[in-house]
Amino acid sequence: MNMNIAVAGTGYVGLVAGVCFAEVGHQVMCVDIDKEKVEVMKAGISPIYEDGLEELMQKNNAEGRIDYTTDYQKAYREADAIFIGVGGTPERSDGSADLTYIATVARQIAESVVKDCLVVVKSTVPVGTNDKVEQFIQDFLVNDVKVEVASNPEFLAQGTAVYDTLHAKRIIIGSESTWAEDRLMEIYQPFHLPIVSVNRRSAEMIKYASNDFLALKISYMNDIANLCELVGADIQDVAEGMSYDERIGAKFLNAGIGYGGSCFPKDTKALDYIAKQNGYALDTVKAAIDVNKKQRIMLFTKASKRLITLNGLKVAVLGLTFKPGTDDLREAPSLDNVPLLLEQGGADIYAYDPVGASNFAKVYPEGKNGNGRITYVDQAAEALEDANVCFIFTEWGGEIKAIEPDTYKRLMRTPLIYDGRNIYKVQDMERAGAEYHSIGRQA
Ligand code: UGA
Repeated sequence: MNMNIAVAGTGYVGLVAGVCFAEVGHQVMCVDIDKEKVEVMKAGISPIYEDGLEELMQKNNAEGRIDYTTDYQKAYREADAIFIGVGGTPERSDGSADLTYIATVARQIAESVVKDCLVVVKSTVPVGTNDKVEQFIQDFLVNDVKVEVASNPEFLAQGTAVYDTLHAKRIIIGSESTWAEDRLMEIYQPFHLPIVSVNRRSAEMIKYASNDFLALKISYMNDIANLCELVGADIQDVAEGMSYDERIGAKFLNAGIGYGGSCFPKDTKALDYIAKQNGYALDTVKAAIDVNKKQRIMLFTKASKRLITLNGLKVAVLGLTFKPGTDDLREAPSLDNVPLLLEQGGADIYAYDPVGASNFAKVYPEGKNGNGRITYVDQAAEALEDANVCFIFTEWGGEIKAIEPDTYKRLMRTPLIYDGRNIYKVQDMERAGAEYHSIGRQA
């Protein structure tokens, strides 16, 4: 049965969920406090860069299954279910989650609802938060209606968010009653996906345990990569050899410059914090965090040893976003490395990213910056022209991976390359006459 669904928050989680609910036939109202953003979305323009999202927005806007509003009262009054997908629950400096946004929405819901309603928390929240949200809503509830809270963590990755939602590996439902469970099952029925139904705390934990396992997997590969360099092995060959064992799997074995983004760094620190709060030392996850911290500046450390100084050198930086397919810079390795290159190095940076440069320029405006300078260019070739060193931080397919090894030799003053994503074969770069340093392979 199609339902009236309200979605609070139109970031990656909220907007993509809303659009996909509309796509399978539900009636959706997306709520955001930002008037301008609402107008933009009504016009069929996506406020985030995400493959396929805008097309689906336009289709469902036109077919009248989705709308956008700042009027949360109206949206929540009419809803059978309200999904909270706000703010990705930002972290505080100690790793704890900042639940202000969620609390605000919970209170608005409590003051608005006039019929029985299921509140579903999609944002990643510390174990036990759903219990608190339910209590909070009960405390502020104005009308005599039933409101229950269910947990439904989201597993989409940026860049493939729409695909991941429509073809999710599993739907996790965390509920404390069959009423809540049944309603959520009904909402997901048209997706025809495997559903795992557990209690709320287990659902909250599944999200952290999944993300932190993947972060651990990456940090493990990075750790092994560093050892490979020392013992004369090649991490890509090692990964390939490992990948055929189905118990290990072929995915997330890519060593590199460390994980970034809005999820792994935050969720590893959060689970470590939750463990500490409960008097437990989560040593595995702590190790993943430590390895990642080191890994992110690995190339800068290598380059600093190789060169007397970066001062005044033209440094090409290829890729700024935390991964390809997104304009998101949150916890991007470039954000650790560019300040080091500028401050400690005094480098003259020419940075290229197909979509992330304008966001990056908000943090590091063009021109003199600390002891160095930064210039943003529209083509990778402009960054490479006459450069003394090149750093590769993001493996953009068409724009960066497609650069031929010969191009570095041809364009750069000295073809010295530090590749944080292992995008080239070492032999190809050698053949092209470049001095090529990557992760976990022999230079
Ligand atoms: C991640 C998870 O993959 C999603 O399942 C989850 O839903 C999401 O977090 C979330 O909690 O919202 P995302 O952060 O968008 O998704 O991106 P990933 O593709 O997982 O990449 C994360 C980081 O790991 C990137 O910096 C990427 O470069 C790095 N990575 C990934 C590696 O260094 N090596 C790999 O083999 C894979």
